[in-house]
Amino acid sequence: MSCDTNDEIRASLHDHLAAWGLRHVESDAAYFAWQRDVFTLQELANLHRHIDAKRQAADGPAAEIAFYDLTAQPRSIPALYSQRYEYYCEVGARVARHLAGAPTMLDVGCGIGILTTFYAKRCPESTVVGIDRSPASIELARRRAKELELNNVRFECCDVEQRDLAGRFDLIIATHTLLQAEQDPGVPSRDWRTFERSADAQAQQRFEQRTGVGIRLDRLLTGLTSHGRMVVFEKTRQPARRIPFQRALADRGLRLLAAPEPVRYRSIEEVTDDGPLYLLGLGVPEEGWPWDEAPEADGMPPLDLESLHAVPAQGEQPLYDNHECSAQQVWMSLSGKQVTSQITCEEPDGRQLHVEWGRAGEWNYLYCANTFDQRQFVLIEPARAAVLENYYREITCDQLRRGNEPAP
Ligand SMILES: C[S@@+](CC[C@H](N)C(=O)[O-])C[C@H]1O[C@@H](n2cnc3c(N)ncnc32)[C@H](O)[C@@H]1O
Repeated sequence: MSCDTNDEIRASLHDHLAAWGLRHVESDAAYFAWQRDVFTLQELANLHRHIDAKRQAADGPAAEIAFYDLTAQPRSIPALYSQRYEYYCEVGARVARHLAGAPTMLDVGCGIGILTTFYAKRCPESTVVGIDRSPASIELARRRAKELELNNVRFECCDVEQRDLAGRFDLIIATHTLLQAEQDPGVPSRDWRTFERSADAQAQQRFEQRTGVGIRLDRLLTGLTSHGRMVVFEKTRQPARRIPFQRALADRGLRLLAAPEPVRYRSIEEVTDDGPLYLLGLGVPEEGWPWDEAPEADGMPPLDLESLHAVPAQGEQPLYDNHECSAQQVWMSLSGKQVTSQITCEEPDGRQLHVEWGRAGEWNYLYCANTFDQRQFVLIEPARAAVLENYYREITCDQLRRGNEPAP
């Protein structure tokens, strides 16, 4: 493995993706036109049926396997997988920085092997294994590895939940594999005023069981050498998913070897905030970086009530509008706050919701917070106070219908 620069890694990744027929598409219009060129309307309808079935996951892993089998047809690859072009660039380049010094590596949930073959190409001295439970994905991965003349990579079809790993690995890579339950909201905070999660072993266990992350991690750890490392990247940017995921890693003795790296990329036009990427190893608890359970800094400007006089009204825009975690800080530090009306209630899915409407000095504000980390703080000038009041009533009417009383 050579000591390549990041630019060199990225350049070779672009070449690699081109060899798979993938290309960078800038606009949704161009991308969907490409899909319509490649697939018939029936094929697209079938694809969407599979996506819905996978999302509902009513019959265990069968719907997910069927989806990945369907998308692993050679003719579908460029048009379908180019949607993830930036994902491959951002994630593949970051993982590639951690491959050095690993004679054996495992890419778990490798799919059709787009990134696995890249890692194998970069590390000709290493033995690389890719495993996945989609038979069609594995068949295609094997075929492409042969076409790319890679002799140091092999692919096996197996479900990582079903048995311990067959070998021992110096590096285990899991990207978008361990926490695939995208609809799972995670674990709620103690109440709407905080982002903190209690040390609730049962809630943690339920999260690990229903998402499958617990058994997957346990199986993977059977194959990690004592000095081995893991690179893990899942959809866990919200504290509700990130905190129980981090606790699942930490409870199994995994330590952070570097600061977690949040990753932003576009899926065609849509900006996705993903990750973070974790570099992990087994070690004594005091070693490594501390696990951070605080919400991310979100870059929203703090609220300065005094300076609002200078802000000209802009169409329908509020004077200040913050939908990020920092909205809580803004609400907490609000001086001269007078609450006009508020309600705290439980939603049908168990999340606690608080909505509050009132005045801060001469301005009117609305604050919403729930136990799945959503926050919203809006401030508006007196002339448009009715907009906020109506919004508050809309929300509270919903709650009143469910039998929750607002507090004066
Ligand atoms: C979103 S794809 C990610 C593919 C690849 N890791 C990447 O980063 O592009 C998830 C893959 O994980 C595989 N997978 C999910 N659960 C699995 C399990 N329990 N055992 C093996 N493979 C699994 C799926 O079949 C699918 O190919």
